[in-house]
Amino acid sequence: MMKKVVCHVRDIEPGEIKETKLEKKSIIVCRTLDGEFYAFLNRCIHQGAPLSKGMLCGTSAETDRLGDYQYVKEGEVLRCPWHGREFDVKNKGCMLAHSKFKLKNYKVEVENEEVVIYK
Ligand code: FES
Repeated sequence: MMKKVVCHVRDIEPGEIKETKLEKKSIIVCRTLDGEFYAFLNRCIHQGAPLSKGMLCGTSAETDRLGDYQYVKEGEVLRCPWHGREFDVKNKGCMLAHSKFKLKNYKVEVENEEVVIYK
């Protein structure tokens, strides 16, 4: 299994996205607000937008009351910069609207305060 040290944990603040390379592929590492790390191919499954130009945010979800929405998953939703499709970072990059579609994801570990990705 190939691995790469991306950076020190303090180099990615919660809510940030960092771009890196792994075997010539552009990869993004996302850090959610609870401090966890997740890594994905830096390419949207729709039309290939660079997700590193997107944002980590939340999304709106309907409540039990008709027409009522609430903001959920703050810092856990990766929003594509081109057409706004949303991917659930904590659920392997599944698209929120159609969970059968998902981003290519990579294993991430923190080893000795360094963020490491695996292929
Ligand atoms: S390229 Fe990402 S939503 Fe279209």
